[in-house]
Amino acid sequence: MDKSPEKAVMRVLGGETLETPPIWLMRQAGRYLPEYRSIRAKAKSFLDLCYTPELAIEVTLQPIRRFGFDAAILFSDILVIPDALGRQVRFEEGKGPLLEPIDKEAIDALELVDIRERLKPVLETVEGVRAQLPRETTLLGFCGAPWTVATYMVAGKGTSDQAPARLFAYRDPERFEKLLNLIADISADYLIAQFQAGADAVQIFDSWAGVLDEDQFERWCVKLVRRIVDKVRSEIIGAKIIGFPKGAGRLYEDYREMTGVTAVGLDWTVPLATAALMQTEGPIQGNLDPLRVVAGGKALDEGIDRIVETLGGGPLIFNLGHGITPEAPIAHVDRLLRRIRG
Ligand code: CP3
Repeated sequence: MDKSPEKAVMRVLGGETLETPPIWLMRQAGRYLPEYRSIRAKAKSFLDLCYTPELAIEVTLQPIRRFGFDAAILFSDILVIPDALGRQVRFEEGKGPLLEPIDKEAIDALELVDIRERLKPVLETVEGVRAQLPRETTLLGFCGAPWTVATYMVAGKGTSDQAPARLFAYRDPERFEKLLNLIADISADYLIAQFQAGADAVQIFDSWAGVLDEDQFERWCVKLVRRIVDKVRSEIIGAKIIGFPKGAGRLYEDYREMTGVTAVGLDWTVPLATAALMQTEGPIQGNLDPLRVVAGGKALDEGIDRIVETLGGGPLIFNLGHGITPEAPIAHVDRLLRRIRG
């Protein structure tokens, strides 16, 4: 059954259970790869790398060539959206993203932009990758969820609990909603354009979903992801969408139903019993602790085995519970793949 020419990740997104779960890793193109570091050193800045199709295509394909993952994820960043909106965005070595914090006046002045025009090089990257990707490899596009993108726009950087955006949302919910709706609408257009350029499926990263209380989670995470999902599916019928509300805890359980996403990406703190329950409703993705890949050995093997034993009998896309870290040894990634694929 596994010999079907259809892409393994797409089959699982269609609800099938495969004997060997397909695998890709969040941040699989990145600093743990020497070939990435070498291209990165050639680019003027991180955003230049994202906006130079020739380089971005190469970086997207690097982990596919080296490891033969079942999916390639477009090389770009969630913060190209604020950049396209005219906000200042830069990435500093060791500091992560730095943005010009947005205030009330700047929110009121924001306008919808033609994302196909602004992010043309990224869409060219999607087309270029599509043309070079092996037939069996799924091409994933992505965007950040409005809440997560807004946390960076408001604070101007990542903070430990994204308090600036949470406070803004309590103090001025109407204006905050306006900001998030705008991000959602632009992100939906951006995902539609990625599908049209050749993406098979997309992932919506809500990396900061875990800092909100139940009420705010529904208001700022669930509702806005639903808005994107509905808008994308009105153009791309049956679009396959993976939602990743990192840190959502107990709120994970109803996420698929509330947002309409096809599959739910789980972080490593989600108990496997909860994951198994969620899997009765549809495909799931995850959820190995990225530090098990750094540690290797028994920690790695046991983590993999527990996931495969508990979740391998249902629709599963094997992944980490968050991005692979720069410290992860390549030999451990090889070991992970060998253990999954036998
Ligand atoms: O391989 C892939 O996963 C595709 C490319 C990708 C990147 N960022 C490249 C990147 C994807 C899907 C992202 C998503 C992203 N970006 C998220 C959501 C996922 C997550 O990790 O929570 C977030 C929150 C961002 C914002 C962002 N970009 C941060 C916080 C940082 C700094 C932290 C870090 O790892 O350096 C970035 C920079 C970034 N994005 C790098 C890469 C490869 C490293 C920058 C460099 O090479 O100099």
